[in-house]
Amino acid sequence: MNESNKPIDLSLLQPVLQKYEGQQRDALLPLLHEAQAIYGWLPREVQEAIGRTLHVPLAEIHGVIEFYTMFYNQPTARRVIRVCEDPACQLRGAQTVMRALERELGLTHGQTSADGAVTYEHVPCLGMCEHAPCALNGDKPAGNLTPELISAFLAGTHPEPSARVYGGPFYMLGRVGKVNPVSLADYEAHGGYRALKKAVAQTPEEVITAVEQSRIVGRGGAMFPTGRKWRFTRAAAGAVKHIVVNADESEPGTFKDRVLLEEDPFAVVEAATLAGYAVGAERGWIFVRGEYPRAFARLQTAVQQARAAGYLGRNVLGKAGFHFDIKVRLGAGAYICGEETALFEAIEGKRGFPRIKPPFPTTHGLFQQPTAINNVETLVAALVAFDMGVTAWRQHGTEQSPGTKLFCLSGHVTRPGVYEVPFGLTVRELIEMAGGVKDGRSLQAILMGGAAGVFITPDSLDMPLTYEDARATGVPLGSGVIMLFDETADLRHTLYQLAHFFAHESCGKCFPCQLGTQRQMEILHRITHNGGVRAGDRQALLDIGLTMTETSLCGLGQTAASAILSALKQWPELVPEDIA
Ligand SMILES: Cc1cc2nc3c(=O)[nH]c(=O)nc-3n(C[C@H](O)[C@H](O)[C@H](O)COP(=O)(O)O)c2cc1C
Ligand code: SF4
Ligand code: FES
Repeated sequence: MNESNKPIDLSLLQPVLQKYEGQQRDALLPLLHEAQAIYGWLPREVQEAIGRTLHVPLAEIHGVIEFYTMFYNQPTARRVIRVCEDPACQLRGAQTVMRALERELGLTHGQTSADGAVTYEHVPCLGMCEHAPCALNGDKPAGNLTPELISAFLAGTHPEPSARVYGGPFYMLGRVGKVNPVSLADYEAHGGYRALKKAVAQTPEEVITAVEQSRIVGRGGAMFPTGRKWRFTRAAAGAVKHIVVNADESEPGTFKDRVLLEEDPFAVVEAATLAGYAVGAERGWIFVRGEYPRAFARLQTAVQQARAAGYLGRNVLGKAGFHFDIKVRLGAGAYICGEETALFEAIEGKRGFPRIKPPFPTTHGLFQQPTAINNVETLVAALVAFDMGVTAWRQHGTEQSPGTKLFCLSGHVTRPGVYEVPFGLTVRELIEMAGGVKDGRSLQAILMGGAAGVFITPDSLDMPLTYEDARATGVPLGSGVIMLFDETADLRHTLYQLAHFFAHESCGKCFPCQLGTQRQMEILHRITHNGGVRAGDRQALLDIGLTMTETSLCGLGQTAASAILSALKQWPELVPEDIA
C-alpha cells in the first residue's frame, strides 16, 4: 500500500507506458510528468511500473523524484498554487498576496487541502518578475496580483499576463506581439526561416565565420564566444552531435528567454536548426524549466509544425545530408539544471548534479557526445545577426560588444519589462527609458546580473552596459538582470532572501556550497528575523563567502555569496564589524 493508503489504479497508466515502451532512460522526466498528471503525485506502484518500462532501478527513480521539487512522492493535489517568494515579487507586495491567499485557502506553505483539491507552495522566482507579484495556478500564470484579485486568480478568471517589451531597435524582439506564436505561416510571413534558407546556401564553415565575426558571446552568463563554441563542436570527433537550447531560465530576476519562448517560439526552433547546420549536429534539444508550461506547449507546437513543413527532419529544406530534429524537454523545478552539465544529466533522466569540467561539453556533452549548448537569447541573437548580416549587426552597440542585448528590468521601476537596446547604453539611460524609480522615490541599490550578480549604488549609474565594462568593473551583465531597490527597501531582508534561495537550490554535491549556503542563510536569518547582528557575523559571512567562491565545484556555489559580499562592501552598516 502506498502513502495515501488508497489503491492505485494502474490501468490509467497503461496507455502512457505503452507509448514509452522501448525507450531509454532519457524518457524518464517526460514519463514522470505524464504519470503525475494522471495521479497528482507519483505513488510507489507507479514508480515501479515506470522502472520496468524504461529499465531503470526503483532506487534511481526515487532519487530523481526527490531531487526535483515539482515531482511528488507524497499525496499532492493535481492543482498546485505556486506563489513567488523572491525579491522582485516581494518588492511589489508578494507578502500581502501570500497572506490573502493563505486566508482564502486556509493553507500554509506545503499544505494540501483536506479534499485533496489544491496544494499551496511558496516557490523561488517564477521568471515573471515584470508582472510581480505573480503566481501559477496549476499551469495558468498570473501577474500583478493584489488581495482583491485573489478570488479571480483562484477561479482562473484573472487574465494571463502578456509580454511587456520596450526599447529598440527591435531585432530579437521584432516579432513579439506581432506574430501569432502558434502559426508557422505567420512566422514565415514575418521573415521566419529566411536566415536558415540563407545558411543552407552557404557552407557550415561560412556560417560559423559569420557568427564569429558578429562577436556574439553567451548570454546565459558565462560570456563564452558563440562562434568559437560552434567551431570547437564542429571540430570534435564523433558521429553524433547535439545542439542543446538552455531554456531553464531560473536566475531570480531573469525573464527575457521566457518572452522569446512564449512569443516567438519558431525563432528558437529556427535558431537551433541553424546552429545544428553549422555544427554538424543531427539532434537538438530544448530544455525548458518546469515553471514555463506556456512556453513548453508553444515550443511543442512549433516543433511539430516545423517538422511537418520540412524545416526539421531528414534533408532539411531539401539540403542533401542536412538532418536535424528537436526534442522539447520539461524540467521539474531545480535552478541547478541551468548549469550546462547538470542540464545534460537532467535530459539523460538523472538527478541534476553538475559534472566536473574538463572535459567540456564541446567534446563530452549530452550522452558524452560533442554538444553545443547555448542560451535562448544567444541563439536568437546569432539567428538575427546572421540574417541581417555582420556589417549591419555591428553598426549597433560597441566594437567589442556589437548588436543589441535584452535586459530584464524589475523591482521598484516604473515600467518593468524586457528591454532590447544596443550595447553601450548606461544603466542610468536604461532606467530613465523605463520611467525611473517607481512613484518618484529615490534609488537605494541596484542588483546587476541576478542573484548570482552584484549590488551597485546610485553612484555607478553612468556605467555603460557592455561586456568590456563588465570585465573591467567586475559588475556582471549575467543574464541581463537590473533590479531596482528604492529607499524603502529592506536590504538586509533581501540578502536573507538571496541566501535562502541558494541554500534551497544547492544540489549538495560538494561541501563548500552545501554547508556554506546553509550557514550563510542561517546567519542572515538570525540577523533579519531573530536578534540582529552579533559579534563575528560579518567575518563569518566574509569567510564563508570566500570559501564558497574559491572552492565550490560549480558556478552556483562560486557565485552564491557574490551579491551578499558586494552589499557588505557597499553598505558596511548592514552587518557592522564592531558590535557593542
Ligand atoms: C547555477 C547555474 C545556473 C545557470 N542557469 C542558466 C540558465 O538558466 N540559462 C542559461 O542559458 N545558462 C545558465 N547557466 C549557464 C550555463 O551553464 C551555460 O554557460 C550556458 O547555457 C551556455 O550558453 P551561452 O554560451 O549561450 O551563454 C547557469 C550556470 C550556473 C552555474
Ligand atoms: S557548487 Fe553547489 S550546486 Fe554546484 S556542485 Fe557544489 S553543491 Fe552542487
Ligand atoms: S517572478 Fe517573482 S522574483 Fe521573479
